[in-house]
Amino acid sequence: MKITIDLDKLWATRATLHGTLGLVPTMGYLHEGHLSLIRRAKAECDHVAVSIFVNPTQFGPSEDLSKYPRDLERDLRLIEPLGVDLVWTPTAEVMYPSGYQTWVEVETLTKPLEGSLRPTHFRGVTTVVSKLFNAVQPHKAYFGQKDAQQAAVLRQMTRDLSYPIEIVVCPIVREADGLAMSSRNKYLEGDERKAALVLSHALTAAKELYDAGERDAEKLRRKMKDVIAAEPRAQLQYVSCADYETLAELDAVTGKTLLSMAVLIGRTRLIDNFVLG
Ligand code: PAJ
Repeated sequence: MKITIDLDKLWATRATLHGTLGLVPTMGYLHEGHLSLIRRAKAECDHVAVSIFVNPTQFGPSEDLSKYPRDLERDLRLIEPLGVDLVWTPTAEVMYPSGYQTWVEVETLTKPLEGSLRPTHFRGVTTVVSKLFNAVQPHKAYFGQKDAQQAAVLRQMTRDLSYPIEIVVCPIVREADGLAMSSRNKYLEGDERKAALVLSHALTAAKELYDAGERDAEKLRRKMKDVIAAEPRAQLQYVSCADYETLAELDAVTGKTLLSMAVLIGRTRLIDNFVLG
């Protein structure tokens, strides 16, 4: 397993990898969700590269960049047994050298949901992933359904910029009790961990309504809101019942549909989603 920081060393190692290459972009503090992407890449590609970079440009001014959890040694220990060929851990200076001024923006898909509350977030994501694609030149790139809008935005960017890269979206990995794994779960203190189950409970409740035949999108949104309102530690940011492709809010559920939400548990912002149909 080669670990590189600088671009020229990354390129030198990349040139030794023949056959197909799968890339798993991450911000580190790895958990089973990340590892599931690496295993999938390993199963589908001749070689696997993992990037670990806490990307400053996708954090808003009042967000948790400085306290985002980091533990590179632990990350490398978790990755080592999985047969990863290349780990790229660029610094902010490598990624955004002084005088940096070029951005990649997806216009429409970035506006609702996460984009409505984090207006500069996806510009940071698409810019950094674009730079990762250019530097690593993978054949396939692996992302989690956990960040459903991110996956949709990156699919759009890949298509629009004609990257010859297949985007593979992998299922959400959950704790035994249903909480979607996230590096930010580490922030949950005391009773907050239990309160955080309200996200998966709200999704399950809406899914049960859907399974019983409900197709009124507002009733599904209402159900999720009611479940969240019943948890005193939870503060709702949004719930959505949207078209899976366009992310536009629906009146009636007819085809593939994304139920999603963002909820504050204390000061920790959590997201979760479920796909219907
Ligand atoms: P990060 O939050 O570290 O997540 C890296 C990848 O792991 C993303 O594709 C995310 O969707 C996936 N992932 C996270 N939790 C998961 C879970 N419980 N189950 C399955 N997959 C999960 O997402 C980012 O980093 C960044 O925005 C990045 C794409 C690296 C760009 O900076």
